[in-house]
Amino acid sequence: MLGRLFRPRSVPPARPKRWELTDEILRWSREDPWTLGNASEGVFACGATGSGKSSGSGRTIAIAMLNIGFGGLVLTAKSDERALWESYCRATNRSGDLVIVDAAAKMRLNFLDAELNRAGMGGGLTENIVNLFSTVMEIRERNTGSGGGREDGQFWKQGALKLMRNATDLVSLATDSISVPELVRVVLTSPQSPGQVSDRTFQDGSFCFQCLKAADQKPKSARQLHDFGVVCDFFLLEWPRLAERTRSVIQATWMGWADMLNRGVLRELFCTDTTITPQAVENGKIILIDLPVKEFGEVGQFAQVLWKYCFQRSIERRNVTESPRPVFLWADEAQHFITSYDMQFQTTCRAARVATVYLTQNVSNVYAALGGGDKGRAEADSLFANLNTKIFHANGDPVTNEWAASLIGRSRQFMASGNSSFDNDQRWAAAVGLDWLDGGGSTSAGFSETFEFEVQPREFTRLRTGGPANGWIVDGIVFQNGRTFAVSGRTWLKTAFRQRP
Ligand SMILES: Nc1ncnc2c1ncn2[C@@H]1O[C@H](COP(=O)(O)OP(=O)(O)OP(=O)(O)O)[C@@H](O)[C@H]1O
Ligand SMILES: [Mg+2]
Repeated sequence: MLGRLFRPRSVPPARPKRWELTDEILRWSREDPWTLGNASEGVFACGATGSGKSSGSGRTIAIAMLNIGFGGLVLTAKSDERALWESYCRATNRSGDLVIVDAAAKMRLNFLDAELNRAGMGGGLTENIVNLFSTVMEIRERNTGSGGGREDGQFWKQGALKLMRNATDLVSLATDSISVPELVRVVLTSPQSPGQVSDRTFQDGSFCFQCLKAADQKPKSARQLHDFGVVCDFFLLEWPRLAERTRSVIQATWMGWADMLNRGVLRELFCTDTTITPQAVENGKIILIDLPVKEFGEVGQFAQVLWKYCFQRSIERRNVTESPRPVFLWADEAQHFITSYDMQFQTTCRAARVATVYLTQNVSNVYAALGGGDKGRAEADSLFANLNTKIFHANGDPVTNEWAASLIGRSRQFMASGNSSFDNDQRWAAAVGLDWLDGGGSTSAGFSETFEFEVQPREFTRLRTGGPANGWIVDGIVFQNGRTFAVSGRTWLKTAFRQRP
């Protein structure tokens, strides 16, 4: 069994040429396979710091996915994650597929240009670019505490998005390309009063006007002609006539977003040319963004969320008949990277064969990441519902433990004083190895019939957390909605992961 999970390095893994949703990725127990279809429904693993998420379930799933040929995007929060993934790739003969995006900026993605020139039905639409910008900026708003749906914030945000929309249309009509520095130049040189609109000297020094002239002279389709009319109305009539204060707040809001992208490593990574696109994962590349949040702070977070969004948009549009390779979106310490768009993305994941794997300490992290309040909670609950495989490691957080217990649910059962549901041959604990490693488990006495949580919240405080004291074993309770595990006869299974091969 363990051999299935941790293949010896010397044996190259068998890579199927085609992938079916029924293909097995790993086994939670001798009789409980986890398939590509299951993986495509997403994974949420949680446990306290040091509970064994990364070195237990995370490592097991990552290696299993690499073994069957997944491509993917890896977001990083901690500085050691690059070395970790390098070791995973070595162990699975995938080192040649690992692509590192880091501060050296050899791997660059002009995200706006890529979106504008992307092939496909939705390609080239300004609205996609505006949405892209707006989703990524959610992180900024969250960090500065200006999100959360406050009304005044929404007003300025809408104004800034309108400015973005018009600047994007103008630059793309004038130059057939788009970049953040150009957008910034358009905004900074836009007329600030009706007087400037008709001032020749102002016009000559204004990039905004140069673009208006260039776009005017270009041949245009009927749609472009219409869009150009809207852009002219905005920059020549509406924008200069706005009240001074309104205009300056909208401009400042927009510049606050753009400024970060327009300097330093983010400019190099996202606002120059393109040397790698998210589509590379479809050819088996594993793109790791080595700008860990713990080291690069908000810049690292920003870069990763931007990559994540571009990846999501790209992969959900792929044609899986032509491009069937499964891919993962991997985020340990996922609270740094979760955005509202994840909910929408998760609903299409299975069809696109994307396995989102999010690891975090507790559910409150996710609520907070999504801005808290009713909206944040609703979005988080939706996300949880769409990450179908859940793995619970040791946790002392009562909110998470209650949540996990109620997710698994209640049933009429015999409660034992120690653990629930042991049967004679201890099959329920037939973990990824534990029962045939040492025949472990415990027996209990004192049964009573009751309608209770199948897994009591306190059970999560008792799981093993690896390390030498636990013989390098990490316990986890796996829950898959709609599934009955063969070994436990339940929707959940207590299993165990080895930290070391
Ligand atoms: N290779 C290893 N050798 C020795 N101990 C290890 C190894 N990997 C992890 N551990 C130990 O095992 C336990 C689980 O570690 P792990 O990093 O997997 O936890 P985690 O749940 O990911 O925690 P965090 O939320 O802090 O990232 C910790 O006590 C850790 O020190
Ligand atoms: Mg960890």
